[in-house]
Amino acid sequence: MSTQKQSHAQWGSRMGFVLAATGSAVGLGNIWKFPYMTGVSGGSAFVLTYLLCIALIGLPILVAEWLIGRRGQKNPIHAMEDVAAQNQRAKAWSIIGMVGVLGSFLILSFYSVIGGWAVDYIFMTGSGTFAGLDGDGTGKIFTGFLGNHEQLLVWHTVFMALTIGIVAMGVAGGLERASKLMMPGLAVVLLILVAYGAFATGAFGRALSFLFTPDWSKINGSVLLAALGHAFFTLSLGMGIMMSYGSYLGQEVNLLKTARTVVILDTVIALFAGMAIFPLVFANNLEPAAGPGLIFVTLPIAFGNMTGGTLLGVLFFILLTFAALTSSISLLEPTVELLEEKTPLGRKGATLVAGGAIWALGIACLLSFNLWSEFTILGNNIFDFLDKLTSKFMLPLTGLGTIIFAAWFMNQESIRKELGLQGGAYMLWHIISRFVAPIGVIIVFVASLMS
Ligand code: PFF
Ligand code: NA
Repeated sequence: MSTQKQSHAQWGSRMGFVLAATGSAVGLGNIWKFPYMTGVSGGSAFVLTYLLCIALIGLPILVAEWLIGRRGQKNPIHAMEDVAAQNQRAKAWSIIGMVGVLGSFLILSFYSVIGGWAVDYIFMTGSGTFAGLDGDGTGKIFTGFLGNHEQLLVWHTVFMALTIGIVAMGVAGGLERASKLMMPGLAVVLLILVAYGAFATGAFGRALSFLFTPDWSKINGSVLLAALGHAFFTLSLGMGIMMSYGSYLGQEVNLLKTARTVVILDTVIALFAGMAIFPLVFANNLEPAAGPGLIFVTLPIAFGNMTGGTLLGVLFFILLTFAALTSSISLLEPTVELLEEKTPLGRKGATLVAGGAIWALGIACLLSFNLWSEFTILGNNIFDFLDKLTSKFMLPLTGLGTIIFAAWFMNQESIRKELGLQGGAYMLWHIISRFVAPIGVIIVFVASLMS
């Protein structure tokens, strides 16, 4: 984004916008978080409610963020203020933008720690560490890694330095263009791993039924909230990020079509990851609910045992690191823009200060896996606390504010024209954006409070 920043120019092409938005969306959320949340939340109950949340809540809110951003043509906080002013409404809407900036700050602190794991695993896989190992062996290696806070610190620092460097040097656009090759590459490697799960593990059927067999009895308030929160996380919603991307958009871009593209790509990558990982879980009698380490324990089994596995594994973790970086640069941007505007720091200084503060908070996150594991906030270690605070609380709340703002306070006739909708299609958008999406978020909140 930084290249366009100064003049607030519009996207040179629709392609640049789609790449930035998809780059932000597709990341660790799809490959690391989706499978582990699925495992923790009991499989299909989570997957199916997540798909519903994506379609009925995530997609309309993504469109709403772009609508608001394109209308406001400024940074996220001011986008809402300005649009509010245009509509003669209260300035209070800008609070939503503020919470969004804080959310991206908190998320990046733990996102960078996990990004560091991905970088470390490039080298672990490349040096043949996993050759011939089963789930026991890969599990021991991961546990050892997690217990070594110095090693975690090194890789968290490397990942954060890469993020800061890319944003400070203003080469984010180049990285996003590279993702045009990287993302299909990631999908192909995942498909190879799905094939490995299908043909070499003997547990593909169990994995598929774990992921997709409807078992509505398993759905409860906490699964619903986890699924909703993840829908926001995976689409980069509720942080003003998509909103600020929208501010670079020209009128000619079809928001609904573009949103559909981004959502489908994001969802397909997540489902591929799930179908690659769970056959390995069941074939090796691993615990689906193992938590944040799930992919780092399962995928190395495949890399350590398949022909060409070392090479494929190195490639996979490089591609994962790239996907994580195109997301982390988008997470750093809101704080940088805020500092740049409110202080005399300038672009580079603001990037260093924002990135440094996030890096420091990340240290607390990585210590929660070892030295500080006993330290809890409301029953959660620091990593879990920040993850839950953002995904299950801040993102859905700001998302709720966003959709209410777009559907109830903006001029609906101009939105109808902007989206190019008529007749039944417009009715559907109207009903979903005004009622289904906001009430859906509220129902999930209430259900989770009651369970
Ligand atoms: N959507 C990214 C992922 O799924 O990995 C993570 C993320 C990026 C979350 C940007 C939030 C955000 F604003
Ligand atoms: Na995602």
